[in-house]
Amino acid sequence: MKLVLRYGLAALLIVTAIILVVPPFAASLIEQWSRSDVESRSVLAFNSALDDITTLLAAHDSRKIVAVFERMSLDEELLAVGFCDQQGVLRYASRQMPKDFTCKQARLGKTPTFSTLRLGRLRLLVSSFPLAASGQNGHVILLHDLALVEQRGAETRLWTVIVLVGVVFLAAAFAVLASVLLARRWVHSLRRAINDVRLGGSGVIDGSEAPPFAREFRHLLRELQLTSLSVDGPDIDWSPATLRQLLTQKLPGAEVIVVSNREPYIHNREADHIVVQTPASGLVAAIEPIMRACGGTWVAHGSGSADREMVDRCDCIRVPPDSPAYVLRRVWVSEEEQNGFYYGLANEGLWPLCHMAFVRPIFRERDWEQYKVVNERYAQAVASEAKRPDPIVLVQDYHFALLPRMLRKKLPNATIVTFWHIPWPNPEIFGICPWKEEIIDGLLGSSVIGFHTQFHCNNFLDTIDRFMQARTDREQSFVTFGSSESYIRPYPISIEWPPAGMKDQKPVADCRAAVRRRLGLTREVKIGIGIERFDYTKGIIDRLRAVDAFLTSHPEWRNRFVFIQVAAPTRTKLAAYSALQAEATELAREINARHGDTSFQPILLMVRHHELNEIFELFRAADLCIVSSLHDGMNLVAKEFVAARDDHEGVLLLSTFAGASRELTEALIVNPYDAHAMVTAIEQALLMPMAEQRERMRLMREIVRQRNVYRWAGQMLLDAADLRKRKRIIQIMSHQETKPSVELVG
Ligand code: G6P
Repeated sequence: MKLVLRYGLAALLIVTAIILVVPPFAASLIEQWSRSDVESRSVLAFNSALDDITTLLAAHDSRKIVAVFERMSLDEELLAVGFCDQQGVLRYASRQMPKDFTCKQARLGKTPTFSTLRLGRLRLLVSSFPLAASGQNGHVILLHDLALVEQRGAETRLWTVIVLVGVVFLAAAFAVLASVLLARRWVHSLRRAINDVRLGGSGVIDGSEAPPFAREFRHLLRELQLTSLSVDGPDIDWSPATLRQLLTQKLPGAEVIVVSNREPYIHNREADHIVVQTPASGLVAAIEPIMRACGGTWVAHGSGSADREMVDRCDCIRVPPDSPAYVLRRVWVSEEEQNGFYYGLANEGLWPLCHMAFVRPIFRERDWEQYKVVNERYAQAVASEAKRPDPIVLVQDYHFALLPRMLRKKLPNATIVTFWHIPWPNPEIFGICPWKEEIIDGLLGSSVIGFHTQFHCNNFLDTIDRFMQARTDREQSFVTFGSSESYIRPYPISIEWPPAGMKDQKPVADCRAAVRRRLGLTREVKIGIGIERFDYTKGIIDRLRAVDAFLTSHPEWRNRFVFIQVAAPTRTKLAAYSALQAEATELAREINARHGDTSFQPILLMVRHHELNEIFELFRAADLCIVSSLHDGMNLVAKEFVAARDDHEGVLLLSTFAGASRELTEALIVNPYDAHAMVTAIEQALLMPMAEQRERMRLMREIVRQRNVYRWAGQMLLDAADLRKRKRIIQIMSHQETKPSVELVG
């Protein structure tokens, strides 16, 4: 708008300047031309009468001289004729000679001269011609009225203005018309280019209709698209806003539905009131910020004792409780179903199958039946929640291997993105599962199947090659199975940044002082920390044994090093879990007996659920953190510890068998099965100079900040958008192909 005003003003100024300058210039030209015309006529008139005048002057015949002068004055522009003698006296003059004219007002020279003179209202051209007649020398004076010349000048000025205004008006009208037509065509082509680029195309505009700045425009569009949406661009700061922008730009109007077994908010009844609990689950920690950012519906198991009391007639409740941003749809599962689906097939079968923690997987036919029943129930729940035929459904984890295929039947146009939060084993191990084909078939109902690492993607592709009649394209990471096509992609999961646990945290020194006070620890004592669910995959036993070995080989650290193990009870119904709890409790007691006394215990085992703020306070109080998983898809505890340390201090010991070790390479990477290496790493951590700690922590924090959970979700949604676009193109093409090009009549 500003530009239009600026250019419009400039054009107005130019036109005004032309109108002010050109007409006077044209008028003066015409005046000059008319005046020289009058002068020529004056010369002509004088010459034609010269002989007569000379003769009559010589004869001193004044009557006839005046008569000749009168005749000459008949010319319409010649006002009067006179004769000035040598003394400058007007001796003879025609009748129209103005009374106030004197010879002094004419320039009397030796050659003919012309000058202008204003007499009252008259503007005159005074021509004086020297003349020598015997005895009567002097000048013949011709007075021409210049009124006509002036009139011509005025008329010229007027007509020039009229013509100029007309020309400017016509030119403006033509320019407006042309630019409207041109703008329409450009807008049309640019709109097409924008649309094309928005849908992921090249934005190429047909050369014939491309505006002159098309190339630059295209370049800008591509640049904009890349900077705003490229997930690998180093300068993208992924945040809730970036994710929302991605949804509006790439998936406008899309409906997002998440499905997981664990719900983000559990309502439990305690005596006469209801408390809300957030579960200890890496999956929930990752998905919850995404849902808060994007909205949508989360379908999950209503597992709390007061969950039914809190939902509406549709089994829905808006959460988070303090600032609702999305809908939680609870699904109900009977105890029998839960035993088979969750405890049985999911956690006694698939969980140990996929984790190499040397706990034997158990497969029971009745668990499998319940697994199918519950997956079908979730498929129904998702279908009933879907408001559009093509929602984006984000299916989470090993509880729902059959759900993608079931959903595909109910919602053929849905974009189903399944994320497997745990490792995928090699084909030999997966081959143990009696229902391997059904499970893989179920997963291949997805549009995209995601794992944390490329290694797990490769294992999955190997498993498909081994057991399925499917075509795997390794280069594109693409699987065609029957009519379904699925991408297999790595998406390393992460945590939100800035992390919610950092809200209201006190400075590190205060956190440390508070924890020491609470646990009765002196300032000299260094603190090690381990926080997770009480799960056998986490390597808790191996970690405690390493602390035991460390204190045995380094007795100087007794009373100077404490290891706090926070373990949230989980799946306690299962034998493997209760056995682990018992073993760990006993081991901690033994170590404390061996290396401690009544005033100091080197192992503090805290078996209870901790809220996020408590966990972050412990992380901030610690000198080192041990994540010694025997096998782990990613492990978000490692990333949370790094995120908690805004003082850049503290050392992370991280298992090489956790996916996080691929990203957090500045941690002390350990093999939890190697007790000696673990002892060395603990010592290295306790003695590590502060400068080195800060260097390592800074690098790790940068990774966690950049590759946060919004980037994780963003990558999946971008792939979902890409797939939807391809699908749309294929639909359009097949529609065109089936359209008859010629209609046969008769
Ligand atoms: C792992 C799984 C999640 C699960 C979490 C907690 O992170 O991948 O799906 O939610 O453990 O386990 P739970 O059985 O309590 O949900």
